[in-house]
Amino acid sequence: MPQEKLLLIPGPSPVVPRILDALALPTVSHVGPDMARDLKEACESLRKIVFSAEGEPFIVAGAGTLSMEMALLNTAGPADRVLVLSQGYFGDRMAQICQAFRIDHDVLECEWGRAVTSRELDQRLKTKNYNVVVCTHVDTATGACAPVEEYSQVLERTGAVFIVDGVCATGGIPERMDAWGIDVVLTAAQKCLGTPPGLAILVFSARAMEKRRGLKSIPAYYSDILRWLPIMHDPTKYFSTPCVNEIRAFAEAMRIILEEGIEERFERHDLYAQALRAGLEALGFSFFTDPSFEASTLSVVRYPDGVEDKAFRAGLAANGVIVAGGLGPTAGRVFRMGHMGNLTSAQVRFAIDAVEKTLAGLGRAVKPGTGSKAVDSFLTA
Ligand SMILES: Cc1ncc(COP(=O)(O)O)c(C=O)c1O
Repeated sequence: MPQEKLLLIPGPSPVVPRILDALALPTVSHVGPDMARDLKEACESLRKIVFSAEGEPFIVAGAGTLSMEMALLNTAGPADRVLVLSQGYFGDRMAQICQAFRIDHDVLECEWGRAVTSRELDQRLKTKNYNVVVCTHVDTATGACAPVEEYSQVLERTGAVFIVDGVCATGGIPERMDAWGIDVVLTAAQKCLGTPPGLAILVFSARAMEKRRGLKSIPAYYSDILRWLPIMHDPTKYFSTPCVNEIRAFAEAMRIILEEGIEERFERHDLYAQALRAGLEALGFSFFTDPSFEASTLSVVRYPDGVEDKAFRAGLAANGVIVAGGLGPTAGRVFRMGHMGNLTSAQVRFAIDAVEKTLAGLGRAVKPGTGSKAVDSFLTA
């Protein structure tokens, strides 16, 4: 067995033993009582996590990109115009999905490192009408967090269906569907929810369900939520074989989140982000993302002068921590560190110690304990 390394890429996040144990349970019938109980429970819990009293959850085999596709195909018909708010890589992917399905759309974009502001959204909506507006809550390439609540205030008067890509946010940063008027939260299992990759996850509001029903037929089969709805209500029915083990593990992941407390989980994500950034800053790193848009789920980190990307990441891996390189225009210039899901304060400390050791190994003069001292000013336990 290779020695396990701490996986701090921006998803998948490390998976705790309770979830791995649930994954390893014997495979059961996809229409049997065990599966039905776990899927129903997971749907109930998911509603709590996105603060939706009456929403319809969908949990199907796939990944975040399938959820993006499902959200669009089930809300945007031939008569609709979609506005994609793009702050980076995954907003652009939303636009590519619109193109692939010939969905009429415009993109309102901003430079990498910040998110489109609610003022910019408001200005755009004064010039053109849209039936569907889509945003990326946290773009995993840039580390920027969009002001979702402010968007919803602007959108309230328009009646547009509001879709939030929460792949790098759901379960780590608040998404209050009912209070904020979000119509679809789409996400995936492998980031803040802490499960291994393998699930596309969505919650549709009553309004979004109404929109889907109004579209009648859509250019999708597996992705059609109306085919999944009877299964989500009664998992003893069959449409397409669900990934039984993954769903049982996901149900366990939901239990862990609710045991921690959802608000406490958001606070923990904030605290660990601050602690890690303090440690990194003390060691001479700086950050790519505009500070007023920084997400608590990942950091996009610039190197001190003279530290080379590949050598640093290889050294860090040798010291037990895996981080990701930059995407697109940031490749080679930054590394991306995820700090989401079921991370512990011991792992935060371990990560900073490993960064410090790596810098020393690259010949940088670092006073031992510099990183951990900064981290400890945030973490008491
Ligand atoms: C914000 C965001 N949206 C969508 C996706 C696509 O998810 P997946 O890779 O699971 O298809 C990602 C993946 O990192 C993401 O970060």
